[in-house]
Amino acid sequence: MLRLLSRVLASLQTQSNLKLAQNLCSACPGFAVKPIMEPKLYQPPAEVRGMTSLDREAFSQTITVPALRVPTGVLNKVVKSLKKSTIQRPGVPRVVQDQEESSDFRLVLLDPIRVSSPKSFNEAEAEALRSFGVDEELLDYELSLTYDNLKSEEVLQAVLPQGQDVTSSFSRVGHIAHMNLRDHQLPYRNLIGQVIMDKNPGVTCVVNKTNIIDTTYRNFKMEVLAGEENMVAKVRENGVTYEFDFSRVYWNPRLSTEHQRVVQLVKRGDTVFDVFAGVGPFAVPVARSGANVFANDLNPESYKWLQHNCKLNKVDSKVKTFNLDGRAFIQEPVKQELPVLLKGKFSVHVVMNLPALALEFLDAFRGLLHQEPPCDDNLPTVHCYGFSKEDNPEKDMVERASCSLGFPLEQRCSVHFVRNVAPNKDMMCVSFTIPKEVLFCSEPQQTESSEEPAPKRQKCEETTDST
Ligand SMILES: C[S@@+](CC[C@H](N)C(=O)[O-])C[C@H]1O[C@@H](n2cnc3c(N)ncnc32)[C@H](O)[C@@H]1O
Repeated sequence: MLRLLSRVLASLQTQSNLKLAQNLCSACPGFAVKPIMEPKLYQPPAEVRGMTSLDREAFSQTITVPALRVPTGVLNKVVKSLKKSTIQRPGVPRVVQDQEESSDFRLVLLDPIRVSSPKSFNEAEAEALRSFGVDEELLDYELSLTYDNLKSEEVLQAVLPQGQDVTSSFSRVGHIAHMNLRDHQLPYRNLIGQVIMDKNPGVTCVVNKTNIIDTTYRNFKMEVLAGEENMVAKVRENGVTYEFDFSRVYWNPRLSTEHQRVVQLVKRGDTVFDVFAGVGPFAVPVARSGANVFANDLNPESYKWLQHNCKLNKVDSKVKTFNLDGRAFIQEPVKQELPVLLKGKFSVHVVMNLPALALEFLDAFRGLLHQEPPCDDNLPTVHCYGFSKEDNPEKDMVERASCSLGFPLEQRCSVHFVRNVAPNKDMMCVSFTIPKEVLFCSEPQQTESSEEPAPKRQKCEETTDST
């Protein structure tokens, strides 16, 4: 008899006939309603699979969730005690009206994945329900779910072909979400873009990288997937505001910690030469903290935004900007400024963040000041970035920097791990004081027009990873 009643109740529950289920339960005191719950309860309707143009209405559905009938007098306390068991969905209320409008009760909606029977409550929750006089009996509640109540992964999982990776991660640069879609996701790219925009407040443009990084200026070609075609982003990094055209310059939100680390090494009155400055994430903050800055970038677009950001942050009087190749920047402005700076009492830093190539530029320091009387004081400190795929990236960096510089840096430098950029590929920074033997040596520095590269440089290029 009991088994039969149980089956009837279960079928009533799947039909979500709350009233009838309730009545039957009250006719049978002590009999707990055991809701039938699907583990993938929030899965949108099957018809959305394969959709390439977003139809939000198609995601609407009604699902059954368990609910507790709670007297209004203890409602807040009960909700607080059941924090872990109540429903947690974007836009879904945890408390709803009881069926009878005038009732002194409310329904507290529970997470169907966590709660399937009164036994699902832990000790503390069960004790709280007892102490507040709440009936543990679970009722069924028909909940209308729409597109707005789904998370982006749930939408994409339901739409994209089954069994394929639906990763929807992106980097945020101001109002722009920047994705790196896989081939199998491309037919759905506009839908994916729209979903990312819908589900992330403040994102008004979604772009996808359409090819690998441009080797010269380190920016990506990109396609707008959804939203406005405005590529001029405004971002804040370490309390400083930058503006730039994201489609035409290099910007990486994952470098903020590294920018800050180097900025903190620089003191008021110091001089910083930023050889590959981009739009200014080293140059602008060091100028703000009182350094004199010489900042350079070969990309005319970066140069333009670098100048813009200096003005925007009111440091244009502290930053001299250049639009030169890094080697020419070292051989002209850096060479010109150094003799006076070496006689001063403030430190001199050279920042070289072009990890694919920067180590190759170190030979530009060889004999840079060969016409000056050698001195030991105040020699510049270089912070040079590189990628390494070696098992021992520290050793690799020291070897390659030594090779390019033509001087052993072992025991004379420090190497800092910046970030892992890909499986087996690390970004590193080697910092060292340029040895006097390098700066003042009589062997002239390499120039691009040198017909016969020195043997040391030739060897370095063979081992350089420029991917
Ligand atoms: C990896 S980005 C770094 C930008 C900035 N320092 C940062 O930390 O975000 C390298 C920059 O070097 C510039 N660049 C590439 N080749 C160059 C060269 N030969 N000389 C000077 N700048 C160059 C690119 O335009 C790009 O802005």
